[in-house]
Amino acid sequence: MNSERKNFAFAFCSAFLVLLVNGFSGNLPIISFDEGYSHLFGDGNLMVLKDGKSAHITLDDRTGSGFVSHDLYLHGYFSASIKLPADYTAGVVVAFYMSNGDMYEKNHDEIDFEFLGNIRGKDWRIQTNIYGNGSTSIGREERYGLWFDPSDDFHQYSILWTENVIVFYVDNVPIREIKRTEAMGGDFPSKPMSLYATIWDGSDWATNGGKYRVSYKYAPYIAEFSDFILHGCAVDPIEQSKCDEAPKFATISTGITRQQRTKMASFRNKHMQYSYCYDRSRYPVPPSECVVDAKEAERLRGFDPVTFGGVRRRHGKRHHRVRAEASSM
Ligand SMILES: *[C@@H]1O[C@H](CO)[C@@H](O)[C@H](O)[C@H]1NC(C)=O
Repeated sequence: MNSERKNFAFAFCSAFLVLLVNGFSGNLPIISFDEGYSHLFGDGNLMVLKDGKSAHITLDDRTGSGFVSHDLYLHGYFSASIKLPADYTAGVVVAFYMSNGDMYEKNHDEIDFEFLGNIRGKDWRIQTNIYGNGSTSIGREERYGLWFDPSDDFHQYSILWTENVIVFYVDNVPIREIKRTEAMGGDFPSKPMSLYATIWDGSDWATNGGKYRVSYKYAPYIAEFSDFILHGCAVDPIEQSKCDEAPKFATISTGITRQQRTKMASFRNKHMQYSYCYDRSRYPVPPSECVVDAKEAERLRGFDPVTFGGVRRRHGKRHHRVRAEASSM
């Protein structure tokens, strides 16, 4: 690496550090679709709007669709405003996530926001999850309701990923924090990932464990994306070295202020409906990082895991990848 590039990387990561300390997306640059993303699959079902700053992805009876970032990132803050399709959306899945599954088939990393459609009159639910180094045998899913109807308007969904912590935000309210623990080992995402946004048919699992399937009578299903923020260390996929000079994020606070932490606790107490930590049928012994709270266990017992799609999610995502390959042939 030449020194000019090193200096650039250092300056960049210093700026990033300040962001983390302040813990907010505040004045980060919003980029156009073309600056950050390109078409992934679904032919004409991806539409970039005239202003270049928004994109629609559509699911109809032919195909879903999706887009992917040009760059791979090692750590950063990634965000989009999303408006989900309204009305009957059972079986529809919209995903905004990071992955390197295309580069590391056996030991990929992933950080997921997934939106699970619902029958008429019932709101979308959000699921978050991570995988590290191919830890697909341990899903770390959580699911939540929201304090608003996400099909009414745009709301901001963001992922903060550093060496030692991952935070999911909705409208700048942290809803989940995952700290790297020693015991998690490689299960904490650690390799550069791309950003993806997709919409696809998750009939087999997304709504009440597959009970309610996608109805194409109500298609097309259109998810709207805007306010793209891709603020991270972009890594050269060949050299993979651009971020070597980054300061150790380990020494920084997570960026969650005390006030935000209170909001997070309140959100989770009100809106969390499922956590893998409390799913005794999947994990008779909860994974090591789980801190199990008796009151929370009692509250979550009211929600049946099957109602929320169980663990069949992997199938769905593979399905969209297969479609992606098919459409590029
Ligand atoms: C990730 O997986 C690879 C291959 O399975 C293994 O060699 C490596 O040690 C793992 N890395 C971590 C950090 O666990």
